[in-house]
Amino acid sequence: MSQAFDVVVIGAGPGGYIAAIRAAQLGFKVACIDEWKNTAGGPAPGGTCTNVGCIPSKALLQSSEHFEHATHHFADHGISTGKVTMDVAKMMARKDGVVKQNNDGILYLLKKNKVTFFHGRGSFVAAADGGYQIKVAGAAEEVIAAKQVIVATGSNARALPGAEFDEVNVLSNDGALRVGAVPKKLGVIGSGVIGLEMGSVWRRLGAEVVVLEAMPAFLPAADEGVAKEALKVFTKQGLKIELGVKIAEIKNGKKGVSVAYTNAKGEAQELAVDKLIVSIGRVANTIGLNPEAVGLQLDERGAIMVDADCRTNLPGVWAVGDVVRGPMLAHKAEEEGVAVAERIAGQHGHVNFNTIPYVIYTSPEIAWVGKTEQQLKAEGVAYKAGQFPFLANGRARALGDTTGFVKIVADAASDEILGVHIIGPQASELIAEAVMAMEFRASAEDIARICHAHPSLSESTKEAALAVDKRTLNF
Ligand code: FAD
Ligand code: NAI
Repeated sequence: MSQAFDVVVIGAGPGGYIAAIRAAQLGFKVACIDEWKNTAGGPAPGGTCTNVGCIPSKALLQSSEHFEHATHHFADHGISTGKVTMDVAKMMARKDGVVKQNNDGILYLLKKNKVTFFHGRGSFVAAADGGYQIKVAGAAEEVIAAKQVIVATGSNARALPGAEFDEVNVLSNDGALRVGAVPKKLGVIGSGVIGLEMGSVWRRLGAEVVVLEAMPAFLPAADEGVAKEALKVFTKQGLKIELGVKIAEIKNGKKGVSVAYTNAKGEAQELAVDKLIVSIGRVANTIGLNPEAVGLQLDERGAIMVDADCRTNLPGVWAVGDVVRGPMLAHKAEEEGVAVAERIAGQHGHVNFNTIPYVIYTSPEIAWVGKTEQQLKAEGVAYKAGQFPFLANGRARALGDTTGFVKIVADAASDEILGVHIIGPQASELIAEAVMAMEFRASAEDIARICHAHPSLSESTKEAALAVDKRTLNF
């Protein structure tokens, strides 16, 4: 007889493994299936995030930032090093070690929570006995039974037509995280999050980086003031960013890649690079899931259709994370995973889409939550804005990193915080205070009245809140 579970989760990325753990905490008998293999062929749970996304990219960003500090900033502190060199193989080995620690950590957490882990591909077989039969194709093949199914199969990189990823010259996020030596010239198509983060890694290590972006505006989802500052700083750092381009043809040859495109003026251009990263967004992944077997509905872009509560068209089948609508972020996937497990248990799981933070881990970091000024203008909302530059913050000066600012936008009448936008050091950490404030529907005055440690970067958030009322103390 096949094994039967209350909840079967397909996919062990941040959406899936977190859903499995939460469901187990709530008393369900849970299985989690994931097919990702490490180089030895063993299980590597954690999905895109752990294996070829958030974690390895941050490891490389850290290494390359150390390199940049050693080569450009140590001298300011009176530290002389002699010639600084970069051992790319060692940097990659460290990154792989960090990934493995996370893979192992997730396997441990699943075990600790008594989640049965299956290494292999999960696919729908049929609806049966008020639930579903799920085939697991791993080293062996078996069919398990599930009363409830949570699909968390993630996403894959989108390729440009005519430029398939070979992961040698034309790189997705996967290949971009495994380059064996610093390319002399690196092309990046798409100035979104991956393009900027990976472009920064290789630029810091010495590559000449050219970024080609289709949109006429830089980072249109960010606050316009932040995007303008970011473009200025990245350009000064040496990233060449061309906006409003149209890619015509990509030729992948033995000596590298050539990209034919027209620039914003409509002029034909040709770019020759050693490596090309294509980071033009990602597509939902349902490869091998066999949704047709049970009639699971997908939308026109191939994402699994869900309602606001992550319910699919099938009773007892849920979907979370990158495989459904909404921002493709690990923490969004996790929140949905927890909420679905709680809904299955009859609780009121909740995800607040208005307070999901966005972070770009460049230097300076960029982070925001809530509405931008341009969104509020378009919606006709009367608002007040307050801004404080890191240049006027003592801790930032001591750090030697005074780029950027904190901006707070608040409702003109109620003073409720509607959005917080940060570009500068540690923006990824500073944004947490803003998310918390917005979750509690705080006013700008609430933040202005909170005692912030001195000297700390977070004092800039307090000062931006004071600036909303035009009463900064240090600027
Ligand atoms: P995934 O993490 O993609 O996991 C899906 C899992 O399901 C995979 O392990 C896959 O092998 C498995 N799977 C798929 N189909 C099957 C099947 N049929 N059977 C069994 N297993 C299956 N987000 C952030 O929030 N912060 C960041 O800093 C960040 N950095 C990123 C950097 C890069 C380079 C990339 C590419 C992405 C980054 N992201 C980041 C996005 C983040 O990785 C995703 O939003 C997140 O991983 C989505 O989680 P998920 O659980 O929905 O899917
Ligand atoms: P993205 O959506 O962030 O950016 C893609 C960019 O490519 C856009 O600016 C778009 O205008 C441009 N583009 C699209 N088609 C193009 C074309 N034909 N020619 C030129 N430019 C084109 O997608 P990206 O960077 O691939 O990242 C994928 C996902 O991964 C994102 O949704 C993001 O949320 C997630 N991610 C998150 C990170 C974080 O939270 N720090 C880090 C990296 C990725």
